[in-house]
Amino acid sequence: MNVQRSLVLIKPDGLQRDLLGEVIGRFERKGLKIVGLKLIRLTESMLDEHYAHLADKPFFASIKEFMMQTPVVGIVFEGIDAIEAIRKLIGSTNPRQADAGTIRADLAMNVPSNLVHASDSVENATVEVKRFFKDEELFQYEKITDRYVFGEGV
Ligand code: TYD
Repeated sequence: MNVQRSLVLIKPDGLQRDLLGEVIGRFERKGLKIVGLKLIRLTESMLDEHYAHLADKPFFASIKEFMMQTPVVGIVFEGIDAIEAIRKLIGSTNPRQADAGTIRADLAMNVPSNLVHASDSVENATVEVKRFFKDEELFQYEKITDRYVFGEGV
């Protein structure tokens, strides 16, 4: 069974639009386990690292400014193949092109206010969880639903 952890950030548009519960609820209903959860006030240096792959883009300064407008909600989810499962749930970067049923398609219209960030690879998930969460902020616990959600792990 390939149990993974992935980092999700709910962006300032999610907080401003009162969509935190809706977004978290979609991940919960899927069966992803919350192992870390907090509000984070992002700094420019955190964002320089987090969006380093976009540093040469013309919109780099404006997405950093956007991400610092309010605190964001940081969540670490755990589940079988969680990284890919979460990327499928959130949908593609442009909410107008994302598949119907995904968080971005159903709840957003606009890049960069596309509501959520989620790790896109095992390597990035490892780095991103460490970037935003200390070890003591991550929890391991059993839920009575684990046997139904995790099943035989297929
Ligand atoms: P990226 O890592 O390419 O996408 P994703 O969030 O789907 O992994 O981009 C990070 C964020 O940067 C994206 O969620 C919104 C913003 N962005 C723009 O504002 N304009 C753009 O053209 C792109 C590609 C991204």
